[in-house]
Amino acid sequence: MNERPAPGSDPIPTANGEDEAREVGVGPWVGPWPEGEHYDPELLAQGDRRNVVDRYRYWRREAIVADLDTVRHPFHIAVENWSHDFNIGSVVRTANAFNCAGVHIVGRRRWNKRGAMVTDRYQHVHHHPDTAALLEWAHERGIPLVGVDNLPGAVPLESHPLPRSVVLVFGQEGPGLSEEARRDCEAVLSIAQFGSTRSINAGAAAAIAMHAWVRAHVYDQPVDGPILRTEGTGHAEYPTLS
Ligand SMILES: C[S@@+](CC[C@H](N)C(=O)[O-])C[C@H]1O[C@@H](n2cnc3c(N)ncnc32)[C@H](O)[C@@H]1O
Repeated sequence: MNERPAPGSDPIPTANGEDEAREVGVGPWVGPWPEGEHYDPELLAQGDRRNVVDRYRYWRREAIVADLDTVRHPFHIAVENWSHDFNIGSVVRTANAFNCAGVHIVGRRRWNKRGAMVTDRYQHVHHHPDTAALLEWAHERGIPLVGVDNLPGAVPLESHPLPRSVVLVFGQEGPGLSEEARRDCEAVLSIAQFGSTRSINAGAAAAIAMHAWVRAHVYDQPVDGPILRTEGTGHAEYPTLS
């Protein structure tokens, strides 16, 4: 039985620029090294402090990506010209957590990845210069686009079935979804709100929509039509269906 050191027993500065402040992970492998192409000799020698789940400890990055690729969920997340790096980072991190097929960043090519907690290295992140390029990418692959925004004419995410293969499109932090994107979306879904704010943080809205996909297609909890019940919950803010 291979001996493994107690987690965090001897802090090691990681060679791959991971967040060293976090006392997570394991030290060097103690005892005969395990067999397998997926193991990273450097990590076995130095320890593994990466932000990865335990089952991927000491694995090479490419091996982790390849393994995730075998079980990725067929939904994509697209963010239109987001200006706040932290929002982009948090969407990438949540997309990694739900193992979606890809994250599509429209506009910005350079963004501070700190908010992503290095999860972008295990996620397929695509950059598109503009919305037209994103729409073309999706059409070429026959993947429908569904917008997520609380715009007039939107239908409730809580009661609108989400396609299994889909690109969920989120609008810019200020103006929201562009006219161009709205035109190409099969539907625009809004997340119910019960307070005074006009909208939810874009990164949070993306997390809610991703979880709705997981509930529908992983936990087989599809929604099949209006189930709006407001008694005792105050009223849900839905834009008037013009
Ligand atoms: C902060 S909102 C700004 C636009 C928003 N329509 C407004 O008028 O305030 C930026 C993005 O977050 C997402 N979002 C925020 N609140 C939402 C809600 N209640 N339902 C669906 N999406 C929402 C949408 O993708 C939206 O484009």
